[in-house]
Amino acid sequence: MRIMRAAFASSFDADNPLAALTVGEQPEPTHPEDDWVTVQVRASSINHHDLWSLRGVGLGADRLPMILGCDAVGTAPDGTEVVVFPLVVDPGDPRGMSILSEHFPGTFAERVAVPRMNLLPLPAGLSATDAACLPTAWLTAWRMLTTKGRVDEADAVLVQGAGGGVATAAVALAVALGKRVYATSRDAGKRERIAQLGATALEPGARLPERVDVVIETVGEATFDHSLKSAAPMARIVVSGATAGHEPKVNLRRVFAMQLEILGTSMGTPGELTELLTFCAEHEVSPVVDSVVPFSRIEEAFARLHSGEAFGKIVIDHTA
Ligand SMILES: NC(=O)c1ccc[n+]([C@@H]2O[C@H](COP(=O)([O-])OP(=O)(O)OC[C@H]3O[C@@H](n4cnc5c(N)ncnc54)[C@H](OP(=O)(O)O)[C@@H]3O)[C@@H](O)[C@H]2O)c1
Repeated sequence: MRIMRAAFASSFDADNPLAALTVGEQPEPTHPEDDWVTVQVRASSINHHDLWSLRGVGLGADRLPMILGCDAVGTAPDGTEVVVFPLVVDPGDPRGMSILSEHFPGTFAERVAVPRMNLLPLPAGLSATDAACLPTAWLTAWRMLTTKGRVDEADAVLVQGAGGGVATAAVALAVALGKRVYATSRDAGKRERIAQLGATALEPGARLPERVDVVIETVGEATFDHSLKSAAPMARIVVSGATAGHEPKVNLRRVFAMQLEILGTSMGTPGELTELLTFCAEHEVSPVVDSVVPFSRIEEAFARLHSGEAFGKIVIDHTA
């Protein structure tokens, strides 16, 4: 059996997920089917999903050890540079599919095996490290704004918890789409940086100068009431995460009186990822990158995400 370096969940720790992370050797990926290929990973990026996995959320103990990581840009067997779409058809999962690192080994490794149909060409003009931000967090933000939020019908957008990977993506994309964007963050330094992206930065819970047509929610309990109060009649509140708790109190009177739509969403489709790659390349939208960390120091990337101090995406350079 061939061995490669990888970062993987070796146990679960709900309180200190960093303690459940191991960086070491794992078997080379194998191909469950003939139509799968092995990609040599050049760059990946870390998501809150990786911390949830280390806490034991969404990952069963029977699947340990599990190589983490959802995002990858790399080299296909034919030598082309590719972006990996991270969802894999998975009949054993109630959703009908799973994200790399849930049932199939993830991207924090030298190589990852994926169905050939999951490979998308890396567009000219996008670096591997920038493109590695797109398949999970940015794709989620793109679908939240476009397919779910119907942002083309909107004038104003609110993004909660603006320092996060999905949230900075939503701000950058909504600004590039020409919308008035409001964004909340608990941190004054992050508010300054979000303003530099073209949004009006606010403290959590602050009254907005206007009601918005689309709210981007990944925070959950800490911000959901503010999201409801900030929504204009017929607004869409699009939810893809609940970092600060998943059981908020919901004022149903406001939901029906204002005719609000509360929409759940997860990730996106290969077609939406292609649209996003094209949009970023054509509009020269660069992902918001907090830092690029060499794979040899990947533990630092996990620690930074866990600290809550990151602004934008933490990218892993697998060539270093
Ligand atoms: N469903 C999907 O397809 C999908 C895809 C990607 C992510 N997600 C989910 O979306 C969430 C965000 O993911 P991410 O990778 O963007 O995570 P992240 O980079 O760690 O961002 C989380 C952000 O949430 C805000 N936050 C955390 N605790 C808070 C609190 N108590 N009060 C107010 N704000 C708080 C913070 O914003 P400030 O520091 O600026 O206040 C933080 O930057 C996660 O729950 C993740 O699982 C879902």
